[in-house]
Amino acid sequence: MKNIVILISGTGSNMAAIVRAAQQQDWARRLDARVAAVISNRPDAKGLAWAREAGIATAVVDHKAYAGREPFDAALMAEIDRHTPALVVLAGFMRILTPGFVAHYAGRIVNIHPSLLPAFPGLHTHQRAIDMGCRVAGVTVHQVTAELDHGAILAQAVVPVLPDDTADTLAARVLTQEHLIYPRAVAELILRV
Ligand code: GAR
Repeated sequence: MKNIVILISGTGSNMAAIVRAAQQQDWARRLDARVAAVISNRPDAKGLAWAREAGIATAVVDHKAYAGREPFDAALMAEIDRHTPALVVLAGFMRILTPGFVAHYAGRIVNIHPSLLPAFPGLHTHQRAIDMGCRVAGVTVHQVTAELDHGAILAQAVVPVLPDDTADTLAARVLTQEHLIYPRAVAELILRV
């Protein structure tokens, strides 16, 4: 069985979409894969309770308990590797990862980013798209490399930017697409890792 480990920092709606897809599409039988664990760097991440209720192992590696990125990433790696993951899925995981961490999971770590990369890496993507006058916005699933929000693109979805959009209304429209493309991209990738 191929283990998927999902990292979250907050709500975890993308994580929940992946877990639901795994259940509804019977990934265990069809893909020989399962979501083995959900790990958060924030003890108060809402998604942790959701995952626990879904019967998934959860853990917290609180970045505030570590002196810097290197020791935090080492602890996170140890927690992830307890589950011998075939794939590590970043789902709203809001930490910059060290090159050593990324190298350790090279080719088997993916991220979802709420913009049409390579446009708007980093934060505040929706406001930046509105401010630039973009007519379309969207979401990208990509391989994780040492450079933030770079790496080969695996999937994208496009939504219109409407004249009266705020960052919140645009984010909500993009998020509905995230929930469609991320489970699909993970299911495709798990066959190849
Ligand atoms: C999602 O919109 C995701 O694309 C974004 O955070 C949100 C998490 O929502 N990720 C990033 O901005 C990463 N740079 P969720 O916790 O409900 O899945």
